[in-house]
Amino acid sequence: MKKVLAVVLASMMVLSLAACGGGDKKETEAPKETPKATEAAKETQAATEAAKETAEKATEAAPAANGEGLKIGVCIYKFDDNFMTLYRQELQKYLEETYGAEVTVVDGKGDQAEQTNQIDNFISQGVDVLILNLVQASATETVAKTCADAGIPAVFINREPDATELERWESEGVAATYVGADARQSGTFQGEIILDTPNKGDINGDGKVSYIMLIGDPENVDAQYRTEFSVKALTDAGMEVEELFAQRGDWDQAKGQELTANALAQFGDQIEVVFANNDAMALGAIEAIEAEDRKMNEDIYLVGVDALDEATAAIADGRMTGTVLNDHMGQSHTAADVAIKMANGEKVDTKYTVDYVKVTE
Ligand code: GAL
Repeated sequence: MKKVLAVVLASMMVLSLAACGGGDKKETEAPKETPKATEAAKETQAATEAAKETAEKATEAAPAANGEGLKIGVCIYKFDDNFMTLYRQELQKYLEETYGAEVTVVDGKGDQAEQTNQIDNFISQGVDVLILNLVQASATETVAKTCADAGIPAVFINREPDATELERWESEGVAATYVGADARQSGTFQGEIILDTPNKGDINGDGKVSYIMLIGDPENVDAQYRTEFSVKALTDAGMEVEELFAQRGDWDQAKGQELTANALAQFGDQIEVVFANNDAMALGAIEAIEAEDRKMNEDIYLVGVDALDEATAAIADGRMTGTVLNDHMGQSHTAADVAIKMANGEKVDTKYTVDYVKVTE
């Protein structure tokens, strides 16, 4: 639709330029040139009219492609999650404003059984497409089969399913897809932010980077990859590492604070780097670090993921070393665009990823 409008506008510009050109020529060139210019202008006008007609036809066909009247069910693993709150709000807004879709968003409250009921309800209501942020990524296959049996396309978001499941969708032609980001990249970027500090994370110069790891949810591939690849970036760069402490904080700020306080009580000055699988836990870590009077970026480093506003503000104030943008705008818009296509029966890829971006001062 936008393309067609662009063609119309471009044609109009060509037309007006041709008209202006014709005017100049009139003054400087022999009159015999004029009929050609008029002919060219006529051709351009014909092209413009054809383009207009195509645009009008496209508008007539638009309602379906537009998503007007489409019913979309969105299941979020739990509403009480900072990043997924930004994500779901943007997703709903974009689907409603850009496509005019009817969107219902429900809270899985961190309970897979409850979420499975919500999915069944959406199916019996006859939604046109489901957007699913599962409580447990391991439930993907069962849920994908339920949706396929009901003939409802499914867009899985945020929690990446097993590669074998994506292959199954491809080989069996299942109307399912995954939209997310490659968590390996976010982990690598966290490690690189530490490598970019003056002492590459080895603040006390003992030849190794001693760190603690605040893990999101061990079942979640984002947590697994961030934990693995942040450290891998250091060892790949030839740094020795020492893990002092690694515990689950379920992506949660209060738990991030509690874990960091415990780790600081246990290991004190030995801790040079705090890797948090997400910013919410990193924000909690800031509280614990400041309570111990540790000096950020002098005797300790802290990195997170997501680039929540509070985290980027903390980075600007020198209260946190860096974070990695988890692009909720890009991901939610891609999920919405793909969902609309699937609801309209278009075939889509089995996976779409949006890049992470490093954020430092
Ligand atoms: C991650 C995000 C976390 C949390 C998690 C939920 O991508 O970084 O903050 O929202 O998703 O699955």
